[in-house]
Amino acid sequence: MMHRLRPMLPGDRTALFNIIDNISEFSPADVLVAREVIDSHLQDPCGSGYSVLVAEIEKKVVGYICYGPTPLTQGTWDMYWMATSPEQQGQGIGSDLVVLAESQIMESGGRLIMIETSSRPEYEKTLRFHRNRGYELIVRIPDFYAPGEDKLILQKRLDR
Ligand SMILES: CC(C)(COP(=O)(O)OP(=O)(O)OC[C@H]1O[C@@H](n2cnc3c(N)ncnc32)[C@H](O)[C@@H]1OP(=O)(O)O)[C@@H](O)C(=O)NCCC(=O)NCCS
Repeated sequence: MMHRLRPMLPGDRTALFNIIDNISEFSPADVLVAREVIDSHLQDPCGSGYSVLVAEIEKKVVGYICYGPTPLTQGTWDMYWMATSPEQQGQGIGSDLVVLAESQIMESGGRLIMIETSSRPEYEKTLRFHRNRGYELIVRIPDFYAPGEDKLILQKRLDR
């Protein structure tokens, strides 16, 4: 079934929270932060510093991506959170969300896109997803999140 992408609206909150709650890769702490990011954007869309795009299939929200300019930089952007509802994964929804976010970042003068993630085995599939979309692993900070759990920083250059 075809999906459609659009900016997030206040009425999407419950559907997005349901998706976030059903992502097995997210730890309880991840779930809290991912929910907070949605709420902070809904409370103050301009001041939050994020943009959120959602994917819907026949009016049902099935995925989202959240990104924004990195404070104190010129043209660097962060891709903060994204998820596709587990039943709808593997159909190209995540890829399309990334492509649209990248084109909007480019239109806003973005040069670099950064993604921070964890070395937890749960995120291996996610890491592969980003690397397949041109995000390069450039930094590994050992034991950052916990003993044995590194922080990984990926980067995609839009100016090449
Ligand atoms: C990462 C994520 C957003 C990708 O979304 P998606 O809609 O499945 O993405 P796509 O369908 O465009 O591409 C999925 C890719 O992974 C593979 N894939 C991922 N999950 C899959 C699944 N459940 N079934 C089949 N293939 C899957 C696809 O083969 C494809 O491979 P490719 O990179 O070689 O093209 C999604 O897997 C997800 O929500 N993961 C959990 C949350 C997460 O890790 N978020 C990112 C950190 S905030």
